[in-house]
Amino acid sequence: MGPWPLDPRGPLAESIAFVYWILFGCAVVVLAIVVGALTYSGIKFRDRPGRVAQQIHGQNQLELIWTVVPTLMVISFTVLSWNRLNFINDVNSNVAMTVKVEGRQWAWGFTYPDQAMFKLPDGTLLQSGEQLDIPVGQKIKLELTAKDVIHSFWVPNLGGKKDAVPGHTTTMWIQADQPGTYKGQCFEFCGDGHADMLITVVAHPQSEYAAWAQTAVTEAARATAPETKAGRDAFLAGPCAGCHTVKGTTAAGKVGPELTHIASKPNIAGVLTPVNQENLTKWVHNAPSFKPGILMPKFDGVLPDKTIDDIVQWLLTLK
Ligand code: CUA
Repeated sequence: MGPWPLDPRGPLAESIAFVYWILFGCAVVVLAIVVGALTYSGIKFRDRPGRVAQQIHGQNQLELIWTVVPTLMVISFTVLSWNRLNFINDVNSNVAMTVKVEGRQWAWGFTYPDQAMFKLPDGTLLQSGEQLDIPVGQKIKLELTAKDVIHSFWVPNLGGKKDAVPGHTTTMWIQADQPGTYKGQCFEFCGDGHADMLITVVAHPQSEYAAWAQTAVTEAARATAPETKAGRDAFLAGPCAGCHTVKGTTAAGKVGPELTHIASKPNIAGVLTPVNQENLTKWVHNAPSFKPGILMPKFDGVLPDKTIDDIVQWLLTLK
């Protein structure tokens, strides 16, 4: 059914869907009774020539019913929601792993837990942008924060929404019952690129998760040579990461082309051949002069020459 809260694929989403269906069912019954009684009365007691309406003053029994029944319903809903909220908000028991999530304009970044299997050779932890890979059947705690404005994390098949707030950590958990790919979306309007803030959660069978992590760590390690760390940091912290994706890092921008293997490409944007230090430097300095109308702005004078050099050195490692 796709990303839809009423197609739950994990215990948290199931819990929410369960409450939804009970409330929805009761609402339909109440609507039918109210509209039915209204229609019936409107026809039966309508104004007709020669009829005088019966003059009554209240009806204790009826009034009691339509006061007590809704009160009992509202109390039941409260107790039910309360009971479910305990389960939904329980982010700390039986947690298999904790992932740090950062929302920024306009992409989600994930940092995997401080465990040996996620350690890169340079000692940093595995990170990813847009896509989060988790093992099936395990409770994954998410610690959310934001870099700039408020975003909201929502993968409907796996759980509820939670705001990611700058300078503050919020928590939630997700769990997938079956292997598969689950789509999500930022749910708080956060500017121009809000619609591009997609989330993909991939759930792997538990037996395959360690192998996935190893591959991901190897892939990410390519881009973490200590000699090019300055360029990598500048790329990820600066405007580049907002538009470009580099797998194995938090850069997950969708506006520009993916740069995961830029150094192995035959040319830059089809206009500069080959991909080498000289051409990359020219390109970053002033892309519009080579391809008029391109979205990428010129960084000549915007970023220091040294920073551009560092970034180019790092891009050259992305083979
Ligand atoms: Cu981030 Cu909307």
